[in-house]
Amino acid sequence: MDFPLSGRSFLRELDFTTEEWNYLLDLAAQLKAAKRSGKETKYLEGRNIALIFEKSSTRTRCSFETAAFDQGAHTTYLDPASSHLGVKESVADTARVLGRMYDAIELRGNDQTTAELLHEWSGVPVYNGLTDAWHPTQMLADMLTMREHSDRPLHETAFAYVGDARYNMGRSLLVTGAMMGMRTVICAPESLQPPAEVIEMARERARETGAEIVITEDVGEVRGCDFLHTDMWVSMGEPDSVWDERVALLRPYRVDAKMMELAGENTKFMHCLPSLHDTSTAVGRRIYEKYGLDGCEVSNEVFESPASVVFDQAENRLHTIKAVMVATLGR
Ligand code: CP
Ligand code: NVA
Repeated sequence: MDFPLSGRSFLRELDFTTEEWNYLLDLAAQLKAAKRSGKETKYLEGRNIALIFEKSSTRTRCSFETAAFDQGAHTTYLDPASSHLGVKESVADTARVLGRMYDAIELRGNDQTTAELLHEWSGVPVYNGLTDAWHPTQMLADMLTMREHSDRPLHETAFAYVGDARYNMGRSLLVTGAMMGMRTVICAPESLQPPAEVIEMARERARETGAEIVITEDVGEVRGCDFLHTDMWVSMGEPDSVWDERVALLRPYRVDAKMMELAGENTKFMHCLPSLHDTSTAVGRRIYEKYGLDGCEVSNEVFESPASVVFDQAENRLHTIKAVMVATLGR
């Protein structure tokens, strides 16, 4: 097998061209099929990968670990408190140490700058497992899932994202939808829309790919979308004090049966997860007690409905993260 992305980092969606995105999606589909048939070739034997998590994770950590093990690689998990990074050792120093020991580094962090510094100083591929700015490995899983659940190519499909669009998920879906040539509707109150420079980046890519970009406050624009995405209203690292304002702003953007009906009869529901869709979590119960909301960004009815493909999407984190590691580190 050829490895045309050998040695490359994946810090944000725009690090790869549309052709390279399609290559990664094809590779992920092949790796998924190979695993399912029990005939997976190990391209990462003898590779060591450091996994740095400044924030918690279920899917991203487990995907990197299982993908690495499936492919014969070894991982070291550094949790938010168990390394010196950023406390008494600079990112540049940690990067130079890890670069001597590991073949690649994954970072889930706050600042995009940390990912960039790791890339600059380590000399090995660096993968962004989510920062406040971008969630690029999630985007590969989202694109693969939409491809699998559509009988048309991505550039002939439409999706809408409703909710807090000024953070990682809203920004990443906007730029990736533009790169893949899709009708991309970002629907959020004005104060929670992506920053102007991100909208401009997306529009620039859309001019090349033919994507249609709609940034709107109007929920009516979800009409006709093939996929309806949302995300948590308050993200990791944000203080509890933002809940009051966020709930007030985003109540009209909650995905419920009425919004799904407006979107379309065959519209699929997507969510990167974790999700507050009922009162079975500590946070969900607090939201119910304080705001009377049983489920926050999405109702339980929609989350559990046949239209929901969220667990296919979660599984695809594994296959797509594996594709990124194989493409950049394989031999
Ligand atoms: N979607 C996602 O990144 O999930 P985790 O926070 O569990 O990794
Ligand atoms: N916007 C969310 C995404 C979680 C996968 C967060 O940053 O917490």
